[in-house]
Amino acid sequence: MSGLLDGRVAVVTGAASGIGAATARLLAERGAKVALLARRRQRLDELAAEITAAGGEALAVVADVTGPDDLAAAADTVSGRLGTVDLVVTGAGAMLTSPFESGRTQEWERMIDTNLTGLIRTVHAFTPQLLEAARLGRAADVVTVSSLGAQIMAPNFAVYCATKAAVSHLARNLRTEFGPRGVRFTNLEPGVVDTELMEHLDDPASSEWLTGLIKSIDVLSDRDIAEVVGFAVAQPRHVNLSQIVVLPTQQV
Ligand SMILES: NC(=O)c1ccc[n+]([C@@H]2O[C@H](COP(=O)([O-])OP(=O)(O)OC[C@H]3O[C@@H](n4cnc5c(N)ncnc54)[C@H](OP(=O)(O)O)[C@@H]3O)[C@@H](O)[C@H]2O)c1
Repeated sequence: MSGLLDGRVAVVTGAASGIGAATARLLAERGAKVALLARRRQRLDELAAEITAAGGEALAVVADVTGPDDLAAAADTVSGRLGTVDLVVTGAGAMLTSPFESGRTQEWERMIDTNLTGLIRTVHAFTPQLLEAARLGRAADVVTVSSLGAQIMAPNFAVYCATKAAVSHLARNLRTEFGPRGVRFTNLEPGVVDTELMEHLDDPASSEWLTGLIKSIDVLSDRDIAEVVGFAVAQPRHVNLSQIVVLPTQQV
């Protein structure tokens, strides 16, 4: 495979499914070497085999973003096998909704640990490599997968939306530290994308609302999001699409 991203070395978290898997596939199609990170080994191995069979280069690395040791080990493994990482996409995430008064503290903690702390740890684990790539004059990118939830208010989504608002503001702030040294930050806020994310919901009101929406309008596919990521990271080095909101046309 060859293309716009030849020579790039990418890490995609959440690559076992949905937005992460689709993005990893697209980056590889365009010439990047791609490290696939998530917890489900079999899914990662299958995607790595698919990418390799199509002529790309992929490395499956089992890692839990809530574990700092996993991320440090992954950073070493990826640089050792694929080279210095210059592109990080944070696809790992969880969405668990419930009425606030039901007090599902374990679900709140899981979302905070995965969506926010895990994302912070991911970016930090690859920071030395991103800065080194930029110092060598290469394009260097972090794409944070936030959500439209960072901007909207909805019953039962308070903690999820809070994690996403934090991610969006984190990305804006990190850009002020990294931009001057040549590392771009692109914060992506998708509307509804048809992925496995909804399957983890056991809150009937939210499930009904989301499945109803998915049936009634033409929602986004994970490939739609991957195309946007591919476009952003292929821009010339001095062009940074810092904030992207991607909505299904019919979602209001
Ligand atoms: N779908 C939407 O409508 C939508 C809209 C806006 C934003 N988003 C955001 O997009 C991101 C990706 O979601 P998706 O829609 O693609 O759903 P998904 O298919 O469920 O993807 C989530 C991915 O995260 C991985 N993951 C979860 N916990 C992890 C952990 N502790 N460590 C490492 N990996 C972990 C999962 O793999 P393993 O289980 O194998 O670890 C899975 O590959 C999320 O942050 C989500 O909030 C989604």
